Amino acid sequence: MSAELNSVPSAQSRRPPQAASLDKKYNIRPFKHVHQPSEQIDYANLDAIDLSTFEWGDSDEAKKSRQRLARQLDHSVRTHGFFYLVNHGVDEGIISHLDSISQSIFEVSNEIKAQHLAGSLSSDLDTDSVGAERGPGFKPRQYWNMANGVKDNIEFYNFTQIQHQDKMWEQNHPQIVKDYLNEIANYYQFLHFVVLKQLTILCDIILELPEGTWYENYFQVSQGDISGSGGGFGRLMMYYGHSDEDNEKTNNTWLRGHSDSAGFTFIASQPMVSLQILDYRTREWRYVKHVPGALVVNIGDAVEFMTGGYFKSTIHRVVNPPKSQQGHVRHSIIYFSKPSWVTVIDPDEIDSPLLHRLGVSKPREWEKITYYDWDLEKGRLFGKSKVNDKPGDAPEPVYIHGRLSERWIRDLSV
Ligand SMILES: [Fe+2]
Repeated sequence: MSAELNSVPSAQSRRPPQAASLDKKYNIRPFKHVHQPSEQIDYANLDAIDLSTFEWGDSDEAKKSRQRLARQLDHSVRTHGFFYLVNHGVDEGIISHLDSISQSIFEVSNEIKAQHLAGSLSSDLDTDSVGAERGPGFKPRQYWNMANGVKDNIEFYNFTQIQHQDKMWEQNHPQIVKDYLNEIANYYQFLHFVVLKQLTILCDIILELPEGTWYENYFQVSQGDISGSGGGFGRLMMYYGHSDEDNEKTNNTWLRGHSDSAGFTFIASQPMVSLQILDYRTREWRYVKHVPGALVVNIGDAVEFMTGGYFKSTIHRVVNPPKSQQGHVRHSIIYFSKPSWVTVIDPDEIDSPLLHRLGVSKPREWEKITYYDWDLEKGRLFGKSKVNDKPGDAPEPVYIHGRLSERWIRDLSV
């Protein structure tokens, strides 16, 4: 492990001394998550990776600790593509305060929201730009097309370029976001600079690469160099739920099934039972269980392509929760980590001894593309009526550079 990888940043709070009066100014108060459900739920059986057992350094014991975690992670990435990270170093109080800040951010006036839109007012209008999927700022409700003419009832706020301490201030944020930007960015930066680094080291071990290879080549951040750096964006997301009529028209789906485009997605676990993942062996949906304090992590398309399908970028969706939890707002804090734009996303690029042994290489029908090529087109497709507003769970199949945009059926032999 290189010396650089041995220096571990801490999760110190960067809250300014005047934080208390700021909280008063913006009426920052606890966000009330829904209580646990009273129904019996059929949960997916996901592994929990305990990062408190990850030891840094070159001692035999430290190496063994990482190898143990890598073996556990190997099972998760090859099967569900979803897992928990527990004891990751972020205090639950930090997450609770972000919930509260987010609540107040979404309470700003519609006039202010209109001045800070991430895209236009409808996905179908964002044909030439990256749209609200990728832009900084607010995505309004009714932006995406669901099914049978129903639009989404989700609002979110995107934070872009937050790994770059100067660049993140250049975005057009409303005052409340500016006032809390250091605190919000501190959380996302910790996920990128510490948790993602640990996770990618475990991936190196799985793929039989020198530890640090993935982070240094694909996810490393060079301050100010946006296109040459790894990165990602943060998202605060409010699900307000559908009317009974719209739930019927969408088969209770609040966010249609999709895979994530990026590297690894980190979601702060929250109690509303509504995130489901597709089990490819049984073709059934399984709920993701709430684990207090955990991060729910899933594999994105970029990582699936880089490993030739060894890591699974699993289809997931958000649905109306069980009866005992209905009538509440669902709040989600998400970080989508991304490899650098210039990363070539196929297994020939990463040159893994494990994948060579398994005979995994770039399928001939895949064009040789970068992560930028993929993310741009995938982001543009999301929520478009011509792709989304179709009968059944799956969207219209669309190929991007020779690869299926959403892979609902897959070969599990690798
Ligand atoms: Fe997703």
